[in-house]
Amino acid sequence: MQTFLNKKIMQIITTKSELIRQTEACHRQKKTIGFVPTMGALHQGHAALIKQAIAENSVCIVSIFVNPTQFNNPEDLQKYPRNLKKDAELLAQIGVHFVFAPTVDEMYSETDMQSVFSFDFNGLDKVMEGKMRPGHFNGVVQVVSRLFELIHPTRAYFGEKDFQQLAIIHHMVERSSMKERFENIHIIDCPIVREASGLAMSSRNERLSEQEKETAINISKILFASREWAKDMPVEQVQQRVIDTINAVESLEVEYYEIVDKTTLHTTTTFDNAIGCVTVYCGNVRLIDNIQY
Ligand code: PAF
Repeated sequence: MQTFLNKKIMQIITTKSELIRQTEACHRQKKTIGFVPTMGALHQGHAALIKQAIAENSVCIVSIFVNPTQFNNPEDLQKYPRNLKKDAELLAQIGVHFVFAPTVDEMYSETDMQSVFSFDFNGLDKVMEGKMRPGHFNGVVQVVSRLFELIHPTRAYFGEKDFQQLAIIHHMVERSSMKERFENIHIIDCPIVREASGLAMSSRNERLSEQEKETAINISKILFASREWAKDMPVEQVQQRVIDTINAVESLEVEYYEIVDKTTLHTTTTFDNAIGCVTVYCGNVRLIDNIQY
């Protein structure tokens, strides 16, 4: 399928064989490939990553695939917003060259779907999101490694909002037993994109009512305030103060707030190389955000 919304023609690819054909042609012609993996429901946060990928490479590929193996809650998977037509329009306007939008059957065999993909995370999956969503990062590594093997991108772009995911992708490419397979892939960390209010952009924000959106603004406000608190309070106290201050806002409930080392994700007692990662329920919507100290 081709779309002519932009001067360039964007091609939507649905099969692995066509994707390999196109990417091999790019590699033969020594074109650099910028790759942005997504699950669709695209917003301005994705757009920022994609624009960077276009600016830094000869070809930009975006994947849109709601990956079933990274959902530990079937209802969450079922409710995940899917609108390929709207997403494709945005991508064509931005100037993407290829969109890879496979079906689940194209990506996974029945055996893949029935077995659990295993990977040595070196403990990176034992904390925060990994602890709360068992198996989630196995699914992420399973799909990202498969996409990398199909595309062999020069650069792959990931948002810092999902900081633990980014740390795990760095581990996969740079330190894990898989690293030889991904030798020439550079992982590019992209800063969190925020609305003018400070709220971190997320596909889940669509599920917030206007009132909840106002409430959710407090999350980033409190995280930014904690940078000031960090000037004269120890880590443990800052951590507790963030939790208490967010919980004091009506309709907000912290699931976890951890201040960890950015590389190991181990809890830390100093603010050197530290990041604070938070998950908060705003009503029924689970939001994540983080702050680097
Ligand atoms: O961050 C996401 O949207 C997903 O986890 C990713 C990287 C596209 C893998 O499905």
